[in-house]
Amino acid sequence: MTNYLITGGAGFIGSTLANHLSKENSVVVIDDLSMGKKENLNKNSNLKFINGSVTDKELMTEVLSQNTFDYIFHLAAIASVADSVERPVETHQINFESVLLLLELVRKYQKDLQRLVFSSSAAIYGDEPTLPKKEESVIRPLTPYAVDKFAAEQYVLDYNHLYGVNTSAVRFFNVYGPNQNPESPYSGVISILVDRYKKLKNGEETQFTLFGDGSQSRDFVFVEDVIQALLLVATSEEALGKQFNVGTGKAIALKELIDVINDVLEVKLPIKYESERDGDIKDSVADISRLKKLGYKLEFSIEEGIKKYLVSEDLV
Ligand code: NAD
Ligand code: UD1
Repeated sequence: MTNYLITGGAGFIGSTLANHLSKENSVVVIDDLSMGKKENLNKNSNLKFINGSVTDKELMTEVLSQNTFDYIFHLAAIASVADSVERPVETHQINFESVLLLLELVRKYQKDLQRLVFSSSAAIYGDEPTLPKKEESVIRPLTPYAVDKFAAEQYVLDYNHLYGVNTSAVRFFNVYGPNQNPESPYSGVISILVDRYKKLKNGEETQFTLFGDGSQSRDFVFVEDVIQALLLVATSEEALGKQFNVGTGKAIALKELIDVINDVLEVKLPIKYESERDGDIKDSVADISRLKKLGYKLEFSIEEGIKKYLVSEDLV
């Protein structure tokens, strides 16, 4: 069996990946459950769960020195841009320092590692107006989250160039789908929307808070396409030492997205407008040609992905 380590593996993307891989491989998950949930993980004897923090040097040294991994996916992070603006010091420890610690431990103990894949973000491109974003576009990080992701990503790729550690990085655009936790005000916008539609369907009083005028746009990518991308990047020789945009190549404005869901569910979600969030990016869309060269085939448009998500939540 192939051995995988997934940090942040009880979270949204991590648990989807862990459940997929543990069908036929051995998977170790480390998560402190600050955002993720143990229930996201299927019960499976191939899957071992460790409740702990990636910033815990002792724990990480033990895990990395006592196991041999073929692949590591480092997904643990505070995923919220807005939270990093509120708590720059705390988020820096998780979003940056844990990466450097992991890289050093891998360099020391994981000589046979086939690939470490780091989850970077489209947030690093910031508000420079040229679209779509290519991997070599201008980088203009606007928030602590984006600064940490870019710095960490560069370290990850440098460890390949400098020390021969097998690394790659992915720059996720806005990922959505089942198991994304909607409970924090900092959660991904689609998970919050789906939660509000559920309340509406149950006859509860609810409203969605829209920051800004709703014209901001995002390249929303369904989690199943993201899993395809992660596995391709991890196993492609051409991806060594490189970074890849992961998106769909198409963006949709937030208010248009709400119209799409209103139409599918034949309801009208009440909206409360508030001022734009600090550090919020106006428009974001990926150029995915580099990923396509690895063989990536997008399976879900936003309409298809949203429908699948709404079906899985029993909304349609
Ligand atoms: P998520 O919050 O669901 O998953 C992150 C997981 O990391 C959570 O389960 C959380 O409990 C865990 N975690 C947080 N701090 C930890 C710590 N100190 N030690 C161990 N575990 C810790 O978010 P996600 O959407 O699944 O994001 C996964 C990764 O992808 C993150 O690195 C995020 O920054 C990145 N990313 C996500 C998106 C997106 O749209 N969802 C876009 C770009 C990048
Ligand atoms: C998201 C990810 C981040 C990732 C980035 C890549 C999360 C929580 N954030 O950030 O990890 O690096 O994509 O592009 O997954 N909004 C509202 N009302 C709400 C919540 C959000 O109007 O209740 C708005 C926001 O102001 C923003 C848009 O929706 O304009 C998207 O917000 P969010 O889902 O938090 O994503 P990003 O900030 O783009």
